[in-house]
Amino acid sequence: MAGAIIDGKARAAKLRETLTGEIADLKAKTGRAPGLAVVLVGEDPASKVYVRNKAEQTREVGMLSLEFKLPEETHEAEVLALVQRLNADPTVDGILVQLPLPKHIDSAKVLLTIDPEKDVDGFHAVNVGRLWTGDKRALVPCTPTGSMILLKDTVGSLTGANAVVIGRSNIVGKPMAALLLAESCTVTMAHSKTREIEAVVRQADIVIAAVGVPNMVRGSWIKPGATIIDVGINRIPSDNGKTKLVGDCQYEECAAVAGAITPVPGGVGPMTIACLLLNTVTAFKNRN
Ligand code: GUN
Repeated sequence: MAGAIIDGKARAAKLRETLTGEIADLKAKTGRAPGLAVVLVGEDPASKVYVRNKAEQTREVGMLSLEFKLPEETHEAEVLALVQRLNADPTVDGILVQLPLPKHIDSAKVLLTIDPEKDVDGFHAVNVGRLWTGDKRALVPCTPTGSMILLKDTVGSLTGANAVVIGRSNIVGKPMAALLLAESCTVTMAHSKTREIEAVVRQADIVIAAVGVPNMVRGSWIKPGATIIDVGINRIPSDNGKTKLVGDCQYEECAAVAGAITPVPGGVGPMTIACLLLNTVTAFKNRN
């Protein structure tokens, strides 16, 4: 029997609906809606799509959306100055600088310039430290936050579960491990240098695939009944000469073995932007 399909699109819509009500209440109480500023430097096509979607959804839930699109050749100092201006702007509760930045700009320096209280990506070292120390004030990266919501909806209590996170990025793998640990999972981080990765993944009750390698995880790697959260969004050539989106897991094979699995598209992807909106509301509340 095939595993259940975890509907991230529907869950994200539900979260946005909850946020819409909450934002209306906050606006009525404080006289202003939360504001999110998004900074895009350059012309990366995927980034442009993400930024447009973020702005649209920000407005849809009733928040203020500010967009800053700067040319590819913008100097690092100008980006830093913009971030500082947004830090000081009382109508801005969340600041997101879209990654990747052009090569001549030091991303780490830009991220560390964002006021941690407005860091809705949760990438600032202060928020990373808060997450790993269990400090409630942490703003937590959006994709792991969305993945945890889907996981808890599906599994309920995660206490004692064996969780394997494949991928060790700062954006997904590492914060995901921190969240799973906080839920009392036994957490293993697997990556490109892991020996016998199939055998490691086969121990997992929960598999988080966040490597960016299309169809890497095969059905034979999956323990029967496991829950799979596939964070990968990979564009590959399709039979009809066009392209299609696939995850890091070979979907048909893995779905046949798993207890539940997120599809790509329609799984984790929609949750990421919804959680960005959630983080902006959280930042607003923390600041008021
Ligand atoms: N680029 C890819 N994913 C992300 C993300 O979550 N936040 C930002 N700022 N840039 C990204």
